[in-house]
Amino acid sequence: MAYIDSYIHTSATSGLIGTNTKHIGHNDIEYLDVILERDKGQYQTRIVIIDGVYSQNGDLSLLPDYIRVCKKHNCLLMMDDAHGIGVMGDTGKGTAEYYDCLGKVDIITGTFSKSFGCVGGFVAASTKLIQYLRYYADSNVFSAAMTPQVADSALKALELINTRPEIRKKL
Ligand SMILES: Cc1ncc(COP(=O)(O)O)c(C=O)c1O
Repeated sequence: MAYIDSYIHTSATSGLIGTNTKHIGHNDIEYLDVILERDKGQYQTRIVIIDGVYSQNGDLSLLPDYIRVCKKHNCLLMMDDAHGIGVMGDTGKGTAEYYDCLGKVDIITGTFSKSFGCVGGFVAASTKLIQYLRYYADSNVFSAAMTPQVADSALKALELINTRPEIRKKL
């Protein structure tokens, strides 16, 4: 079962076609806590899906609260940080760094089309989960790989994010 913030990006909701989903009000931690308690023992895998920085209104997820509630209910947490990567946090590692929560989110996705000025994207998760995605994610199996030019461009952007903090600070 996927418990999704009502403001998550369309790309995530499209990826959920065929998955059981429940909509949770935007940043409504209290309701999420109640629903996860009520659904206890009903589903094999439960995942909460949020954005780091919301594209519709620019506000932030209440990430530390989501981490706490997901841990309490033994539920996975996935965060789309398309608007956080390269921008948020002291070194641009995104919303998790901003909240001092690096390493505490099970799955972080991001795009190279925004702060990286490129195309493509990434999923950061455990080795086991990445292995699973390599074999079972249609977007990986049935789609062409990133070209070397694009990969190099994304790497250059990453280098700039790491070495030119003044650009981020100005933003
Ligand atoms: C929150 C969020 N996630 C994902 C995407 C998709 O990014 P891309 O267009 O690079 O696939 C966007 C694009 O607007 C976005 O705002």
